[in-house]
Amino acid sequence: MAKVTLEHVRKTFGTVTAVADFSLEVGDREFVVLVGPSGCGKSTTLRIIAGLDESSSGNVYIGDRLVNGIPAKDRNIAMVFQSYALYPHMSVYNNLAFSLRMRKLRRAEIDRRVREAARVLDIETLLKRLPAELSGGQKQRVALGRSIVREPAVFLMDEPLSNLDAKLRAQMRTEISRLHRRLETTIIYVTHDQTEAMTMGDRIVVMKDGVIQQVAPPQEIYERPANVFVAGFIGSPPMNFLRCRVDGGTLTGPGFSAPLPKEREAVLRSYQGREIVVGLRPEHISDDPADIERWGAGAATAEGQVDLVEPLGAEVMLYLLVGGQPLIARVTPRTKAHYGAKVRLALHLAASHVFDPATESAVG
Ligand SMILES: Nc1ncnc2c1ncn2[C@@H]1O[C@H](COP(=O)(O)OP(=O)(O)OP(=O)(O)O)[C@@H](O)[C@H]1O
Ligand SMILES: [Mg+2]
Repeated sequence: MAKVTLEHVRKTFGTVTAVADFSLEVGDREFVVLVGPSGCGKSTTLRIIAGLDESSSGNVYIGDRLVNGIPAKDRNIAMVFQSYALYPHMSVYNNLAFSLRMRKLRRAEIDRRVREAARVLDIETLLKRLPAELSGGQKQRVALGRSIVREPAVFLMDEPLSNLDAKLRAQMRTEISRLHRRLETTIIYVTHDQTEAMTMGDRIVVMKDGVIQQVAPPQEIYERPANVFVAGFIGSPPMNFLRCRVDGGTLTGPGFSAPLPKEREAVLRSYQGREIVVGLRPEHISDDPADIERWGAGAATAEGQVDLVEPLGAEVMLYLLVGGQPLIARVTPRTKAHYGAKVRLALHLAASHVFDPATESAVG
């Protein structure tokens, strides 16, 4: 068990800056998720913590120990990758026991650790099988088991679920969260999947182009994204962005014109006579008259043309054109909207996010 600290870590490959000035303290037993698009530097950061890559500058501490220059095998960490890389000719038991035998642990101790990991991962009945006789999810569990038996201070996981189909991914996601609670250990987990980040992390680190954009618990990232990038990356379907103008007490955007909502009035007034980017989550656009009523003065109304209706059972996604701009609304299955229809919409401006058009940072 240990905390992990990164201080101004930087990594360049020739002219490419993979990680720029990365500072973060991961608490003991915390589950932190690094998330961001392909190439943003997630794996590089993890490999530097693991000791598989050397940083160009900056410091890494595991617990209170500075580990710069200390080889991976002496860092008391375990890394789980996307590929399972199990030994094909060895049974599950022997796959789990392998690294412990290499370390010359006593036989009874090896047996205790293997059985404990198998119990935690619910693979006790599979110990005699060969990897070829396992499903993808079972293989991934064995791969996790191989890191668990080592009883490391820190687990580093790089997209461990991306080889699995959607259903299994969702299942393994909850299993890893449970595992984290049972093992009471520090986990740093890399993914480009915002759902994994939202559901698993105690805190999320959103990265772009090697630079940290925001570090916060999932709900805070969702409710108070620091900038347009984070707002658009976390949340599915993504936030809608509307270019609006503030004139006197009026906000004008694509297809609507409304009094400034009380909740955002101060910040909007500071953009008097100028453009501003207003962000609206899909759940804050509705064709339900009950919402139009409920949101009251905090909402604008607009007419939208329905471009696509996507029923998902418990909810329906409406792809709309409003004032010439495409918008996505998350509405109830009670909707009467159908392709080509014109619908009256409420835009819940009181719940909107406001971004500066030049810096793209959240304001207010
Ligand atoms: N060994 C290397 N040599 C040169 N460039 C590299 C090397 N490893 C990574 N890079 C570059 O560094 C940047 C960050 O790569 P990294 O693998 O950390 O991204 P990532 O966030 O893990 O992406 P993905 O989601 O695709 O796995 C990329 O531009 C990548 O091309
Ligand atoms: Mg990667």
